[in-house]
Order: sequence, then C-alpha cells, then structure tokens
Amino acid sequence: MWWFYRKGPSGFSSASTAEEVTAGVDGRGLVAVITGASSGIGLETARVLALRGVHVVMPVGNVAAGLAVKESIVAKIPVARIDVLELDLSSMASVRRFASEFESLNLPLNILINNAGVLTRNRTCSCDGLELHFATNHIGHFLLTNLLLENMKSTCRDSGTEGRIVNVTSVGHAMMTYPEGICFDKIHDPSGLNDFIAYCQSKLANILHSNELSRIFKEEGVNISANAVHPGVIMTNIFRDRTIVGAFFNTIGRIICRRVEQGAATTCYVAMHPQVKGISGKYFADCNISSPSLQASDAELAKKLWQFSLQTVSS
Ligand SMILES: NC(=O)c1ccc[n+]([C@@H]2O[C@H](COP(=O)([O-])OP(=O)(O)OC[C@H]3O[C@@H](n4cnc5c(N)ncnc54)[C@H](OP(=O)(O)O)[C@@H]3O)[C@@H](O)[C@H]2O)c1
Repeated sequence: MWWFYRKGPSGFSSASTAEEVTAGVDGRGLVAVITGASSGIGLETARVLALRGVHVVMPVGNVAAGLAVKESIVAKIPVARIDVLELDLSSMASVRRFASEFESLNLPLNILINNAGVLTRNRTCSCDGLELHFATNHIGHFLLTNLLLENMKSTCRDSGTEGRIVNVTSVGHAMMTYPEGICFDKIHDPSGLNDFIAYCQSKLANILHSNELSRIFKEEGVNISANAVHPGVIMTNIFRDRTIVGAFFNTIGRIICRRVEQGAATTCYVAMHPQVKGISGKYFADCNISSPSLQASDAELAKKLWQFSLQTVSS
C-alpha cells in the first residue's frame, strides 16, 4: 500500500507527487511531447512540466477536447506554453501526419514521453491490421519515436543537453504475459488472445523498446536516455472498459489507489530530475530504480521486438 511508504535512494517514495519531485527544477527552454495528455497521468504530467516552464506539445485524439484541456491548464498557469495536435497512435498514417505537423512547428525536442495507453475489451485489430493494444501502446510509440529521433538528436547536439525518452509501462508486464514474452504470431491475428494479457504484453514491449533504444544510443554515442516507468495503480479512465476492475476502482479503489498527482511523479522525475542525468535503460517505480521481470531484461527479446517493429512500420 502506498501509504506505508518508505523513501528510496532518490529521496522520493510512492507518496511523492509530481510537483514535489520537480520542485526547483527549471524546465524553461525545454520542449516536450507527451502522448495521452488529455486525461489521467498524462494530463498531470503535462500540467507539471508546463508549471516548470517546459513548452509542452500534446498530441490528442480529439483536438477540441485537447484544446479544452489546454485552456484548463492555462487558466491555472497563465505562462504555460502548450500546443495541441491531432494523433491516433493506433494508425501509422496518423502518427506520420503528426510527426510532419510537429516538424512544421520548427521546435526543438528535448523530452519525449510515450504515455498514452489503452486497455480494451475489444479483441480487435487496428486500421493497420495489428492487435489493438500492441498497435496503440507499442507500435504507435515505436514509430513516433523513430520519426522524432532526428530532431531529438540535433536538439541535444545543438544545446549540449541530454535528451530524455520516457516510456510509461505497467507492473502488469511482469504479472500476465505469454510464456515467450511477446506472442509475435498473434500480432496480426488476435483471435483467441486474452485482452488483459494482450495489454500486459504491450507494456512488456514498452520496456523492451526503451532498453533497446538505450543500447543503440550508447552504441552510437548519442546523448539521449531511454527509460521505462511504472506509474503505480491510479484511478483513471484506463479501466473504463473493465466492468469488474472498474467497479473495484469506484469503491475500494477510491480509498487505496494513489492520486494522479502521485501517478505522474515517476514520469516527471525521470523526465526532468538532475539525479537521473546519464541514467538509461532502467525501469523506475515510485521515483526510484526498480527491477522489471526477467523477460523485460532479455536483450535478445528486445532486439527481436525491434526488428519486428521496424518491419511492421516499414511494410
Ligand atoms: N492508471 C493506472 O493504474 C496505470 C497503471 C499502470 C500503467 N498505466 C499506464 O499509464 C498510462 C496512462 O494511462 P492513464 O491511467 O492515465 O489512463 P487514461 O486516463 O485512460 O489516459 C490514457 C491516455 O491515452 C490516450 N490514448 C488512448 N488511445 C489513444 C490513441 N489511439 N491515440 C492517442 N492517444 C490515445 C487517451 O486519450 P483519449 O482519452 O482521447 O482516448 C488518454 O489521454 C498508460 O500507458 C497506462 O498503460 C496506468
């Protein structure tokens, strides 16, 4: 339970909030893209980064709703700099459109937070014919990251500051997944897949993705870090399609779950805190380095997923 918290080596704990972990951190001059910032953990992440002076770009499914979110942040932080652009992560065409619109803003890019996620009951495929959790939570972010990478590389070269990529995963990656970790055979034909396991598989992919990015950056001598974070169990819209889990969250969950202010803490810590400078390829929980599952630490599986993802976005 989060309220039996103990501070870890970072000095923060499961009870820390995003505002607390970024207190005194100056984000002025930095630009961040945060997916899934229209609600929940992403919205709080966007608010706190804007509060610290970061120029936030919010890719959202519904631009009108995104603009309303922007207004709600600006009402509290009048100096906040926020851009809202359209993005559907489950569609590779939409990801490409977003990346080209972002480039036309002529902004540098210091921080990329791959936060958006779905947990759905629909055992359906995306418009690109991929299992929906894998398409939205992993492939969309994989493609987005690849398309924004040149900008991030030139930004860190020109500014001399470290770029940071944060993938928001879940502890679920270690709880329920397939024996082989990623069930590659089922990505194009999700019939028979369990939707909750499919979600956890996509969250495992988030960690493997950041691990492989980190390995490549180290090999290439690129000054960008890539880490994965588990935000904790937070009452958000993510459980809206789950009747039983939803009922739990609306009753007992209201008492035992952390608040979104705490749910955004680990993401904000990894994205901005000076303590995390130079740390890459790690898994964080409760604002401290933690241990993911053995599958999430499997370098061969990470390489295999990278090749599979590259082939998927190229076909
Ligand atoms: N809440 C928890 O307990 C928990 C635990 C572990 C991990 N996480 C992770 O935390 C992250 C944030 O989730 P949350 O709890 O804050 O849930 P949330 O409130 O439902 O937020 C999810 C966000 O993702 C966006 N999104 C969904 N599908 C998208 C798509 N196809 N294209 C673009 N954006 C899309 C949603 O936008 P729309 O509303 O416009 O669809 C929303 O802004 C997720 O990656 C989730 O897996 C959450």
